[in-house]
Amino acid sequence: SRRSYHEKVLDHYNRPRNVGSMPKNDTDVGTGLVGAPACGDVMKLQIRVDPNDNTISDVKFKTFGCGSAIASSSYLTELVRGMTLEDAAKIRNTEIAKELCLPPVKLHCSMLAEDAIKSAISNYYTKNPKAKQTDLGGTNAPLPKVEIETVTQAATA
Ligand code: FES
Repeated sequence: SRRSYHEKVLDHYNRPRNVGSMPKNDTDVGTGLVGAPACGDVMKLQIRVDPNDNTISDVKFKTFGCGSAIASSSYLTELVRGMTLEDAAKIRNTEIAKELCLPPVKLHCSMLAEDAIKSAISNYYTKNPKAKQTDLGGTNAPLPKVEIETVTQAATA
């Protein structure tokens, strides 16, 4: 019954974050579309990537599924915003399940979210093969904050 859902699931289910779509032909957008064979539920997750630093600048989802699947995808969108693709690819469904206190029978719902972000990242890499090399090379690390301040001070002195 609905009463058995944890309040975090209900919160995301009642007020899902980042529901929507992005233009799937946009070069900077990666689209993941996955399904859970066990129940037939479907999740679409889209990420917009900032090509300068390989981070996720925007994220949208549409889930046709149970409350736990909707909550898992809503929570995932909050989690991955601002992350590098490399870090986002490391998210495991167990982290999502733990945050939302999903019972074992609902673990596959969080698996759908893990599959969806991986699928979206892989679609982005397919469209932007060079991004993967940059990401793994780690040559474009942002300036440390202190350096930014020094540069700013120097510029305004
Ligand atoms: Fe299948 Fe939740 S019951 S995704």
